[in-house]
Amino acid sequence: MSERIAIYPGSFDPTTLGHLDILERAKGVFDHVVVAVLDNPSKQPLFSTTERVALLRDSIPSDWPVTVGTFGGLTVEYARIMNATAIVRGLRATSDFEAEFQMGLMNRRLAPEIHTVFFMTSFANVFVSSSIIKEVCQRGGDVDALVPSPVAVAMRAKFHPSSLQGAL
Ligand code: PNS
Repeated sequence: MSERIAIYPGSFDPTTLGHLDILERAKGVFDHVVVAVLDNPSKQPLFSTTERVALLRDSIPSDWPVTVGTFGGLTVEYARIMNATAIVRGLRATSDFEAEFQMGLMNRRLAPEIHTVFFMTSFANVFVSSSIIKEVCQRGGDVDALVPSPVAVAMRAKFHPSSLQGAL
């Protein structure tokens, strides 16, 4: 039987424990998952594409059947290049649903052979998003329990470099 491959696309600016939660569920269903980091030059992310990829690689356990790549075009085209039959997305709450439904239907129209599969996040991560994490960290709040440790260190280096003096 051929390998069941999925891609998990997103901005990952930065990776949160919510993302890893979805990834862990996805790897239980698919043989291989490709985390696909959107390289979007028109956006101004906190972390560059290279940094986002490096943080994902540092945060994902090495024994997971997961690789990390980048793409700049359509998600479905990257899925085809990767021989993926599914696009994984996480759902936190009903508020995510409308945009995800729209995106899922558009992707199905573009590539009917590729299925969008939603995984529900765990209750502990329902309120976790990259944007809220950045805002809280920037204003001095503690987000260490909500992101992988390489991300916590990298965010402190971006927002509060003086706090790391002597620690590195
Ligand atoms: O983490 P995000 O920002 O919610 O991820 C959004 C992402 C990257 C999945 C979405 O913007 C996307 O697929 N962009 C690539 C362009 C594309 O394929 N658009 C058509 C689908 S609507």
